[in-house]
Amino acid sequence: MADIAWTWLGIRASGVTAWALLTAVVLWGILLKTQLLGRLASPMRLLDLHRWLGVVAVLFLAVHMVLLMFDSFMRFSIWQVLVPGIAPNEPLAYGLGVLAFWLLIPVTFLGRIRAKMGLVGNAWFKRAHLIAYAAWPFATAHYVLAGTDALADWSLGLLFTGTALIVMALLARGFVPAPGPSRPVKGEPTLTSS
Ligand code: HEM
Repeated sequence: MADIAWTWLGIRASGVTAWALLTAVVLWGILLKTQLLGRLASPMRLLDLHRWLGVVAVLFLAVHMVLLMFDSFMRFSIWQVLVPGIAPNEPLAYGLGVLAFWLLIPVTFLGRIRAKMGLVGNAWFKRAHLIAYAAWPFATAHYVLAGTDALADWSLGLLFTGTALIVMALLARGFVPAPGPSRPVKGEPTLTSS
């Protein structure tokens, strides 16, 4: 244990945490859209949590990526962290992670500035939001292909649980019609945009 670099542990711990948080963000987004939980959770609470989870997921992802540049074994350059397909080894496995990262950037950025952009901001945010959902399958494929621990029992349990919850929520989304448009609160995003 004493021989294992803390950066190596950090890369793996932050990667798994980022994946779990990303899974929770997607789940909360679907719960928000469908209102499946009914009175158990108010839309505004769900929206707050959805946003908060998104911010924390991106922070853990940033730690994951930064540590790769400081690890004495991995030694990624900044370009290898940011450009898909040029990693020193396993370019596909790592490239999928880089693609997932880029798919999250538009929604992260537009989320900060859309209030200042008015209606155009909302329309762009909606598109960016759809793109962000696509990050999950890429991140999951990256986890399975790149993770040293991906096939450990605990990791398989996490992967199966997260994936099953998302599949069930998506199925429910297909069966349960989304509620009608709610009255927008000034300066706040509408539920249909989340
Ligand atoms: C949404 C984006 C991402 C998520 C959710 C994510 C998540 C993960 C997870 C769960 C692991 C497995 C950790 C383990 O071994 O237990 C991992 C490993 C790894 N990730 Fe990411 N990652 C993402 C983006 C990236 C990016 C942009 C890079 C940059 C190249 C990257 C590079 C790596 C590397 C090199 C490993 C291998 C560590 C090992 O051998 O275990 N990841 N990632």
